[in-house]
Amino acid sequence: MSDSKTQNHLFWENEELKLDERLYYAVWPGGQEAVDRLAKQGKRPVRDLISELIDSDTEFFEFSRIAGFGMNYPDVTDVPCAGLVTGIGKIHGNWTMIIANDSRVKAGTYFPITLKKHMRAQAIAEQCGLNCVYIADSGGAYLPMQADVFPDDQHFGSMFYNMARMSSMGLKQITLSTGGNTAGGAYIVFMACQAVMIDKLAYSFLGGPPLVKMATGEKISAEELGGAKVHTQLSGGADHFCTTQEEGIQIVRDILSLEPPQKLFLHRYAETPSKVPPEVIYEMLPAAIHQGIDIRSFLEAIADDGYFSEYKKHYAPGRGDNIVTGKLRLKGIPVGVVASNAVGIIFIEAARKATEWIIRCSQEKIPLLFVQSSPGYMVGSEAEQMGIGKYGADMVRAVSCAQVPRIQLVIGPDNGAANYGMCGRAYRPHFLFSTMRARTSVMSGRSAAGVLLSIEERKREAKGKPMTEIEKEDFRQKMIDKYDGEAHPFYCGARLLSDRVLKFSEIRDWLAMSFEVSLLKSVGEPSFGNLRF
Ligand code: COA
Repeated sequence: MSDSKTQNHLFWENEELKLDERLYYAVWPGGQEAVDRLAKQGKRPVRDLISELIDSDTEFFEFSRIAGFGMNYPDVTDVPCAGLVTGIGKIHGNWTMIIANDSRVKAGTYFPITLKKHMRAQAIAEQCGLNCVYIADSGGAYLPMQADVFPDDQHFGSMFYNMARMSSMGLKQITLSTGGNTAGGAYIVFMACQAVMIDKLAYSFLGGPPLVKMATGEKISAEELGGAKVHTQLSGGADHFCTTQEEGIQIVRDILSLEPPQKLFLHRYAETPSKVPPEVIYEMLPAAIHQGIDIRSFLEAIADDGYFSEYKKHYAPGRGDNIVTGKLRLKGIPVGVVASNAVGIIFIEAARKATEWIIRCSQEKIPLLFVQSSPGYMVGSEAEQMGIGKYGADMVRAVSCAQVPRIQLVIGPDNGAANYGMCGRAYRPHFLFSTMRARTSVMSGRSAAGVLLSIEERKREAKGKPMTEIEKEDFRQKMIDKYDGEAHPFYCGARLLSDRVLKFSEIRDWLAMSFEVSLLKSVGEPSFGNLRF
């Protein structure tokens, strides 16, 4: 093992420690004091409930845990975990989406980022055909920001619109109410296919006691107004009555025990372990983000049996192999791969090869994995005249129209149109994961600083006040810091531009789970624009 490899390993371990620190605050908002306060209310931390809800000895795959950090909302800098736990777990053997308020974060109220996280989880559930369980304990809209969370599409009402649409598609929407569900929040109980309420803990009403007193003068307790007895015995707004959280969880499990078993719409081969330990990934990926990588070794480290079958391996060396294409299996699931290699600049040859491969996989109904580490398409007169714009656009078109599940994993630079061609967020991959090596921005800090500096210099010259060398350097550095900060996985993860920042050691398990879940719905017929191919 050479020294530089050891340095890489230490570097990435240290980066992932920083991720762990952030995760701690996401999972334990308010520390022990907040847990004690919950206990006094007869409640347990929401992840404890989730671990009881899913089948024993199975894993809960939690999304976007670093969402909500550094949002700088009115009165609130961080919203740990966006105040909402979302993820996929198995209930009676079936993958199920779980969406749960964390009442330790401002009473589980909805900030803009909370809504975005809720909607993203519902979108995954709809796209993959998953039933949803809601563990509801929310004060509703975060009132200081009502204009940003109430009236628009993708705001509060969209949660219930999604519930109605999914239930009409046959996807069960089950709510366990474990706390307050006030005003709009009450619909999470009333819109469910079946709702469970806990005596003296769960409340659901369109207007809480203070509002009722103001509006009608009636003085009434929360329990009498909208407690579990009111809704299970009088209004019929909820369907199941229980007295503890544990009992409530059991009822949800019982409801879902009658669901038919899910099946995979693709032949799954026997799973073989990867031959290469994940530590190799820590060694092989350089700490310098723009340094070239050996993607074949990376793919061998995640594939069953370390086997990657490459397509057009010898095509256009040095230009065609800045993208590597081929197939591997992930825990028995065959997957087509489009992966950046070396420094990742996409030349015409690489774009054409990738387009061909995407179409081929779509035709074979093989799902696609995009491993992104590309700073962009090749620029310059030669590339332009040879048609890099056109061939890059063909790649984007193939990515957009491929009918198969697509998943993006970012392990390096993710800039410019390469973000499009490699299936970035706008191309609606079923899942999008990043790592601590990911850097997503329109261009690198260095390039952006150069472009913006030349504009600023022109402006200052026109005003007759040319920039001094010190001013130029200061301007350049500020731009580099801004761009590099915004490209960082913490910044992007906080804003839900990824579904999770994965540790390198988690990549194989998460990709296998995500492909499995993505293949629970049958794949449509392949088409390219209005052509079938
Ligand atoms: N908007 C903004 N902040 C809210 C909020 C809301 N809708 N609901 C609660 N909070 C804040 C509280 O101010 C408090 O902040 P702090 O920790 O900085 O003091 C924190 O959330 C916890 O609230 P608290 O009332 O102490 O928690 P609780 O567990 O005792 O009660 C509720 C929870 C939801 C029953 C109660 O907070 C409540 O009734 N909230 C108002 C709900 C409402 O009317 N919503 C209408 C919006 S659609």
